[in-house]
Amino acid sequence: MQSEYILEMEDIKKSFVSNKVLDGVSIAIKPGEVRALMGENGAGKSTLMKILGGIYHADTGLIKINGEPVVINTVDDARRYGISFIHQEISNVPSMNLAENFFLGREPKKKNHLVDTKKMHEETRKALDVLGIRLETTRLIQGLSIAQQQMLEIARAINENARIIIMDEPTASLANDEVSDLFNQIRRLKEKNVAILYISHRLEETFQICDTVTVLRDGQFIGTKNTAETNDKELISMMVGREFKDMYGNERAVGGDVVMEVEHLSSAYVKDVTFTLRKGEILGLSGLVGAGRTETALAIFGIDKVTSGTIKMNGKLVKIKCPEDAIRAGIALVPEDRKSQGLFLCHSIATNLTFQVLREFIYRLHVDRKKEKEIVETYKTKLSIRMASIDQLAQELSGGNQQKVVISKWLANKPQVIIMDEPTRGIDVGAKAEIYKLMSDLTKEGVSIIMISSELPEIINHSSRIAVMSEGRLVKILDPAQDKISQEIVMSYAVEGGTE
Ligand SMILES: Nc1ncnc2c1ncn2[C@@H]1O[C@H](COP(=O)(O)OP(=O)(O)OP(=O)(O)O)[C@@H](O)[C@H]1O
Ligand SMILES: [Mg+2]
Repeated sequence: MQSEYILEMEDIKKSFVSNKVLDGVSIAIKPGEVRALMGENGAGKSTLMKILGGIYHADTGLIKINGEPVVINTVDDARRYGISFIHQEISNVPSMNLAENFFLGREPKKKNHLVDTKKMHEETRKALDVLGIRLETTRLIQGLSIAQQQMLEIARAINENARIIIMDEPTASLANDEVSDLFNQIRRLKEKNVAILYISHRLEETFQICDTVTVLRDGQFIGTKNTAETNDKELISMMVGREFKDMYGNERAVGGDVVMEVEHLSSAYVKDVTFTLRKGEILGLSGLVGAGRTETALAIFGIDKVTSGTIKMNGKLVKIKCPEDAIRAGIALVPEDRKSQGLFLCHSIATNLTFQVLREFIYRLHVDRKKEKEIVETYKTKLSIRMASIDQLAQELSGGNQQKVVISKWLANKPQVIIMDEPTRGIDVGAKAEIYKLMSDLTKEGVSIIMISSELPEIINHSSRIAVMSEGRLVKILDPAQDKISQEIVMSYAVEGGTE
């Protein structure tokens, strides 16, 4: 008998050593259904989907496709059942070109068994055109933005004729217009009866694009709701297991003396950027993706070459040619792409957390384990980082918990200025509030923060002042003491580049 469900996962259990991660989770999805999976960092969302995608094996439980029990042992098995996975942490090979990456593991062959490169490029071109992606297929993955790489993965899933597509936090690094492109694609896939499993921490997206939502908490199935019949408040309390109060505090840090002066700073990507940063303030850096916000951070931090302009710290000119110079000057950067820039994934959490302060407590070439443990314990509690032990490998942490380790790493270094690039990307509702609290505490201790964020409510509620960038230039600094501030006003500068 034909099942009404394209996918059923029944009573899935999974432990990593003694850590019980999924404790009997069941879901059933119909063709053309968009199902949100929500829950706090470490709740088990990615793990459940990795089991479906053939990356992990469930300890017990059953998976059915169209009512038929199936065994999914490998990624290829999953692919054969029409399951395609767009990952939370993008893992393209940087040295490959677009076409090679697109067909990785399923290269078209010629009669003589050699890879049909011509066909590969033609097919890739076609698939990219469907999504309106104008990149050359000979271009290397290296240098593509996360958003571009993600679109590439979506194009690949469509090209593979997937019937079930898993999207693990697909919009985390997309700009507003890219999100609406993605949603249009999802609607089109829906019409073709493709089922979509959509993991996100953003409630508004769940209500916008998903038909149903399943909430997990601590590896347990909490419930499934129709999005039309639930609301923010109910979902949040399902996720955190208690009533949840206001997530944005209404305190706004007020800056003191000028700590940092950036004057006429230019690099290959930004032009003539000038601003000051005051002691204990949060300067919000807003703008569309690609406006040069991250690139401003990279120039200040000595990663991108500065072609002209100066940086002063406490009135003194500093020369920053590399990240070490920046760190010595008291500047820290919490990067956007934590996988390639923020973490040593194959090292333990303890090593990651204390890397920057290692110098301080290496004594006679011995790492002071006691001190190391102390630092880790402090931040583990402060940010409620979910880990089995501090010696666990960073790659085993859930996405949001990895982000917390990156932030902790830099906090442990006690910088004067901390640049945070999308600090709450991938962070669950509860932890978001913890990070805002932490930022507020830091400013009270006199630390100055530059916060790059694409989330306008975050920028508006937490910035002492707001700098808006557009096309590589800083076009406006808004000060709530003098200027009216709203999402529309900030957007108008971001879009029109200040041509009022
Ligand atoms: N390979 C692994 N080895 C050991 N533990 C793991 C491994 N993968 C995941 N875990 C643990 O399983 C738990 C659930 O992780 P998972 O990645 O599924 O969470 P998540 O709900 O996707 O969270 P996030 O919102 O932060 O991405 C976490 O406690 C994590 O540390
Ligand atoms: Mg995850």
